[in-house]
Amino acid sequence: MKVSEAISWATEKLSDAKVSEPKTDAEWLLAHVLNLPRTNLKLDSDRSLTAEEQNAYERLVSERAKRFPLAYILGEQPFLGLVLKVDKRAMIPRPETEQLVEKVIKRLKGLGRKNLMLADIGTGSGAIALSLANQFPDATAFGVDISKEAIDLAEENAQRLGLTKRSVFLHGDLTEPLESIFPPETFDAIIANLPYVSESEWEQLEPEIRLHEPDIAFLGGSDGLSVIKKFVQRPFHRLLSPKSFIALEVGANQAEKVQNLLQQRGWQEVTIEKDLCGIQRFVFAKR
Ligand SMILES: C[S@@+](CC[C@H](N)C(=O)[O-])C[C@H]1O[C@@H](n2cnc3c(N)ncnc32)[C@H](O)[C@@H]1O
Repeated sequence: MKVSEAISWATEKLSDAKVSEPKTDAEWLLAHVLNLPRTNLKLDSDRSLTAEEQNAYERLVSERAKRFPLAYILGEQPFLGLVLKVDKRAMIPRPETEQLVEKVIKRLKGLGRKNLMLADIGTGSGAIALSLANQFPDATAFGVDISKEAIDLAEENAQRLGLTKRSVFLHGDLTEPLESIFPPETFDAIIANLPYVSESEWEQLEPEIRLHEPDIAFLGGSDGLSVIKKFVQRPFHRLLSPKSFIALEVGANQAEKVQNLLQQRGWQEVTIEKDLCGIQRFVFAKR
């Protein structure tokens, strides 16, 4: 089988399985098997696959046809210029969260401080903590997750990216591990992308998410807000220094509710920002 034939075969198989971008995924998987950049496949379209390559490709295409997520098969996901290891232990980081981090970076630059102390609550693969530690060479980032498996993955990512000296991952509930370690006014920013999917929305999600990504990363009870409400109730206000801020990613139609919750708890300058699709996605507040 030639490269071009292999891609056509896989595209049809993935299309039958209702994968949303069958040709792109067919190309990514073949590039992975051949250890080539995806853009080089066109140049090699007449090259024949060895029997071993063909077997490996058929195996990966059949996993993808079972709606196993592409990023888990490739084992990697780009995130703000970093390449993160991803697997079933944690949610695959999403583009909206890259937008959150970009907004956080802008605000942190505005603070004009050195040796930033940052926290990422619900760190998953470590995406937020590690991309911030990567962006600010004198910063230290703390990531917390209730999933021990996610913490293990985040630590592996820190190792791979050479960020172990400036990132610390703690297993625990929301800000609890930080509250018990740090004195008041330690942090410059606390960022949280917590679960925000409601039970009814969960039923509508693609099989890639429902069947393969950890549900603890998504499910936020009947209204999607149960974990975010718990976060807002925690007494971590004192951990932030003056003018420091919190930044949250929330679901569509949740931003104003979260804004109200934060205002009721005494947070100041609670503002909402939209994502690139125009959805009210991010909530910022100062202590
Ligand atoms: C939406 S995912 C975000 C993962 C990562 N921050 C990202 O943006 O890719 C939410 C994360 O919160 C974690 N989580 C859920 N409940 C939590 C809790 N009570 N305390 C700490 N982490 C929690 C989940 O395990 C999951 O890793």
